[in-house]
Amino acid sequence: MKIPAQGTPRDEITKAMRAYRDTDADASRARLFSLVYATRPDVLEVAKEAFTSFFSENALNPMAFPSLRRMETEAIAMTLDLMNAPEGAAGSMTSGGSESLLLAMKTARDWARVERPKVTRPQVLLPITAHPALFKAAHMLDLEVVVVPTAPGFGADAAAARRLVTDDTILIVGSAPQYPHGVVDPIADLAAIAEERGILCHVDACFGGFMLPWVEKLGHPVPPFDFRVPGVTSISADLHKYGYAAKGASSVLYRTRALRRHQFYVHADWPGGLFVSPGVLGTRPGGAIAAAWAVLKYLGQEGYLDLAKRAMNATRTIASGVRDIDGLEILGEPVMSALAIGTRASGDAPALDVYVIGDLMQARGWFFDRGQAPANLHLTVSPAHEAIAGEFLADLRACVEQARASKEQPQGKAALYGMLGSLPDRAVVRDALLELMDSLDAGDGSAS
Ligand SMILES: Cc1ncc(COP(=O)(O)O)c(C=O)c1O
Repeated sequence: MKIPAQGTPRDEITKAMRAYRDTDADASRARLFSLVYATRPDVLEVAKEAFTSFFSENALNPMAFPSLRRMETEAIAMTLDLMNAPEGAAGSMTSGGSESLLLAMKTARDWARVERPKVTRPQVLLPITAHPALFKAAHMLDLEVVVVPTAPGFGADAAAARRLVTDDTILIVGSAPQYPHGVVDPIADLAAIAEERGILCHVDACFGGFMLPWVEKLGHPVPPFDFRVPGVTSISADLHKYGYAAKGASSVLYRTRALRRHQFYVHADWPGGLFVSPGVLGTRPGGAIAAAWAVLKYLGQEGYLDLAKRAMNATRTIASGVRDIDGLEILGEPVMSALAIGTRASGDAPALDVYVIGDLMQARGWFFDRGQAPANLHLTVSPAHEAIAGEFLADLRACVEQARASKEQPQGKAALYGMLGSLPDRAVVRDALLELMDSLDAGDGSAS
């Protein structure tokens, strides 16, 4: 394909985009339990208006657009307050959870170069359930990952972490909550180990940072995870998840400004000018900053609390409905609005293949992630799911019955996920995933 020699009329472009979109997962009807944090239409409108108002502004140079600097500073101040940060704490807005985590890890590496000069091969402790963005960050920064196993219930095993920590460990990470099962790691225990050792402890609250505080206020039990926990030195919290901002907005926060300085990059000798940048990006979209700021102000604490209540209502309805279906179970004890549905043997009947149930649900228009070890269907529940929780459960019951009655071997995604999930040689699985990634732009781009 070439750039068209002449321009295309606007209505044709709109028509083409609509046609392309027809093949997408449907975010608007809340049948999606992943990737989109479905909220009220008025919140979306506020975010869109703010985004387009600052469509062309670039936060690369904070001197040129003081409006963006102000909005970023205020958004970070509000997020620090939400995380109960002490006086003197500081943070930055980033483009998403992955950038926040990469920066938190770069900060740890550069902090250790100054504060732990004897460490030549820095190690980071990551629970096996930690988001892949953390493993990717360690890979990019050439830090050695030491994997912490989970304890029963899927939280990180703090006793194992204590055994695995060495003189070369510079950072311990815990998640609040971890994505796979929605379980909060024992942050207080992990942070205590870090504090005893005089090293850093990052809490990945990308997923839960804008949900757990409201869940706690609603009276649900939430283990301590924020800056109130001594030893927690940094936290990431995503505005574009349960903050309901436009995509491209997260935050990374530090207990002290001194720690944050290790995050910055300075290049003073470039013929193009003096250069200093807080994160990975050079050009930083003003729209994402403005939309995040606008939604924080628009919703206020009351608005967030109300949305959290709806998401928790939907989660409770779905979780208790799932537990009532013979042969299904919820893995672990999720604390907020994310859960993993697994299958178990019931009486003489063996456990059903949960991926088969997933395929049947997908044929009815439901979309979610598929987790592994043990196999599960992963649901990120949004406030908009309150209205469709009953319909979801009715379809789930029907699909479980259908899977139970079926004598056929798993096909389609179920067969693929089942095979890839159970292959003991993970190198084969990695090759298959690379192959998949590499093939996505082959053909006309319309294949799913
Ligand atoms: C716990 C956790 N950390 C990090 C991330 C990565 O965030 P992003 O996709 O914005 O890079 C996610 C995404 O779901 C997450 O759940």
